[in-house]
Amino acid sequence: MKLPVLFLNFKTYEQGTGKKARELAKIAEAIAMETGKSIALVVQAADIRMLAEAVDLPIFAQHIDPVSYGSNTGKILPETVKEAGAIGTVINHAENKRDNKFVEDAVKRAKETGLTVMVCAETTERAKEVAAFSPQFIAVEPPELIGGVISVSTAKPEIISDSVEAVKEINSEIDLITGAGVNSTADVEKSTELGAKGVFVASKILKADDPKKAIEELVAGFK
Ligand code: G3P
Repeated sequence: MKLPVLFLNFKTYEQGTGKKARELAKIAEAIAMETGKSIALVVQAADIRMLAEAVDLPIFAQHIDPVSYGSNTGKILPETVKEAGAIGTVINHAENKRDNKFVEDAVKRAKETGLTVMVCAETTERAKEVAAFSPQFIAVEPPELIGGVISVSTAKPEIISDSVEAVKEINSEIDLITGAGVNSTADVEKSTELGAKGVFVASKILKADDPKKAIEELVAGFK
């Protein structure tokens, strides 16, 4: 995946669900093609196949469970996510938190399945802990800023730079992503200046009257 990248999290917003998710995915795809900027879609499990068939953008699941084929009713099997067309998955999002044992097992299963993994961390300390499991990406997001209008790069710039440094010391191959309240070109610029290889964004785009404009504004921050 080309870096820096905008991870666009559809969460369970109405605009990011079912047919509306497909419309938004098409908008994101058109912008990626026009601008050459990198955009990945983080979508609900039930929409993965439809979206993977509809657009030529990397698709990530919002979550997987560390299970294998067998009796695991209601769990999200990594193999299903892969076969549906996702290239990766998020684990431990602030809205779907897990302990380190779960994260370790889920990263292992994702890798066995050939999925790229982005583990979320709420602090630099947690980023260091999960770096030990060697995911490809760690997304640092202060939970209290998620969905707000003050961005991580404004309120807590040090969490980005500290996490970049701390994670690099543990495993220099991990790319640090940041998110929470990211809502402007300047936020994206600042995040990448501080060493992030991308941003993880939802509300700015999912709640926008004009999502095309919102995405364009954000990717303009990638130089
Ligand atoms: O997954 C990204 C997310 O948690 C940030 O959400 O709405 O603050 O952009 P938001």
